[in-house]
Amino acid sequence: MLKLTVCVIGLACVVASPAGAQQGIDPVLFEQGQQLYQENCALCHQDSGGGDAPTFPALGGDDRLGDPVRIVRSIHQGGRRMPPFPNLAAEEISSLANYIRNAWANDFGAVSTEEVSAVMEGVEEGGPVVSVWDGVFTEAQAERGGAVYEGACGLCHGRRLNGAPDDPDMRSTPPLARARFLRVWDGRSLATLFAYTRATMPEDNPSSLTEQEYVDVIAHMLSVGGMSAGDDELQPDPQSLARLVIGPQP
Ligand code: HEC
Ligand code: HEC
Repeated sequence: MLKLTVCVIGLACVVASPAGAQQGIDPVLFEQGQQLYQENCALCHQDSGGGDAPTFPALGGDDRLGDPVRIVRSIHQGGRRMPPFPNLAAEEISSLANYIRNAWANDFGAVSTEEVSAVMEGVEEGGPVVSVWDGVFTEAQAERGGAVYEGACGLCHGRRLNGAPDDPDMRSTPPLARARFLRVWDGRSLATLFAYTRATMPEDNPSSLTEQEYVDVIAHMLSVGGMSAGDDELQPDPQSLARLVIGPQP
């Protein structure tokens, strides 16, 4: 695909693929797909589409993207380690499919929203979206998570979850609560936070906790971030976590 490289002195160069340069791709859909990709997918698959081996696969050069049914299912229902996005509408999934099939050096052609709707028919609808500020964990769960956090995360992310380790010789890490955390994670679901954390953390021993321990730690993070507890525990179930969305304090 034809690529334009736009460079501004002193800033990084941006490689812009002119939307719709490929035959049959609706430029509006392609651009919408690019934006949705940056918000929802680039955390793991990267802006470059190159992924982050060995944890997150590359989408650039992935021959499996030739099969639109597989793409729609992966996004809507998730995978073994990929979070589901049950609340993206057919048009949004269609724009994402058009983007990832034709971005970078990919050249798999267009997918129509009608095709996507047909695949999505019969698969379960996402339920209503709930804010993480609406009491989505219990106090007991946050307490359990606090104990796990202390053993598995605190050394690097700090006792106060502010990214400052107790040992001044250790490098700082991203904060896991409060304003900066909320800004970085704004609009993403707890399914994404769960999948990302489980796949990459603790950094020195990823995937070493149980699924229950990972959701308990997330409950602790939310609690320290000032969100109040409710009557029901967070479940280590990607479909239900996908309905719980991170956002600013209402
Ligand atoms: C938290 C990390 C994460 C996020 C966010 C994420 N993915 Fe994935 N994705 C993965 C992993 C890991 C796999 C490998 C399959 C698995 O283990 O589930 C994958 C696989 C895929 C595949 C290949 C499926 C196959 O096997 O053919 C596609 C397509 C894909 N992702 C698209 C997306 C799109 C589009 C988004 C954004 C809407 C997205 N992913 C968001 C982690 C992620
Ligand atoms: C050995 C040090 C270390 C340990 C232990 C560790 N982390 Fe991390 N964590 C990091 C580093 C470094 C990053 C930044 C990674 C990057 O940007 O690629 C990070 C990033 C994260 C992020 C992404 C934050 C963001 O906004 O980008 C989350 C979430 C996270 N860690 C959660 C946890 C949890 C939960 C635990 C315990 C189960 C944990 N980490 C244990 C070092 C650690």
